Amino acid sequence: MTAQLIDGNALAARTRADVARRVQALKARGITPGLAVILVGEDPASQVYVRHKVKDSEEAGLHSVLERHPATLPEAELLARIDALNKDPAIHGILVQLPLPRHIDSARVLEAISPAKDVDGFHVASAGALMTGQPGFWPCTPYGCMKMLESIGYELRGKHAVVIGRSNIVGKPMAMMLLAKSATVTICHSATHDLAAFTRQADVVVAAVGKRNVLTADMVKPGAVIIDVGMNRNDEGKLCGDVDFEAVREVAGWITPVPGGVGPMTRAMLLVNTLEAAERS
Ligand code: GUN
Repeated sequence: MTAQLIDGNALAARTRADVARRVQALKARGITPGLAVILVGEDPASQVYVRHKVKDSEEAGLHSVLERHPATLPEAELLARIDALNKDPAIHGILVQLPLPRHIDSARVLEAISPAKDVDGFHVASAGALMTGQPGFWPCTPYGCMKMLESIGYELRGKHAVVIGRSNIVGKPMAMMLLAKSATVTICHSATHDLAAFTRQADVVVAAVGKRNVLTADMVKPGAVIIDVGMNRNDEGKLCGDVDFEAVREVAGWITPVPGGVGPMTRAMLLVNTLEAAERS
């Protein structure tokens, strides 16, 4: 059996088109959703991510503001900028690109963002809302993974989902989202003994480690759904995920490719969150 692909590019395109339609409806009521992206320093990967976020926003009709600051920006000045954006009625979403320079306390910065504008979903209030099933913003990557599962009509209730990775940005919120859909959830991580024993039982595997070939074909139950959050480079410098894609696709039922899977959906969900921040305002 060869797995069916879950096409993140196509789903993201549909998601962006839907956002663009809803943005026009809001604009007709005199509200233009606004996203502020703050970049501190010159990290090359962050510059690319931020450029994508601004381009996506503009194409969807959002008002988008990019603030660039030198790596030497004092933390107090960054907190003052966030405070000003929290109070700015033209801004509905605030995103501070991570990682921040070492002299800045990232946790303090993320907590300074108003939860009502926390479109990254990284604030403790957003994490708490997700955990307790209350309204709030969900982190874009796991939210995009949930949309991919939804797009294939996958019923999670009673299924065993194994999440590999326990980051605050992906693994932990992913587990909460799967649990909210009544899956039985196992979180595996770097200290897990015999990872394969868990993944072989899984109906759904979400791989979010950041290391190549974490999931190989012998670790996968035939027909399982495989969501690959990884973004790595192989020996030829080509983008690849955490999953041994060519081998695993011969065993799995569904699989997300890298590139063209979770990545574009992560970008699209930021637009969804910003739109919804404006709709709620
Ligand atoms: N750095 C890498 N990914 C992300 C993300 O999704 N949000 C923010 N703010 N920073 C990041």
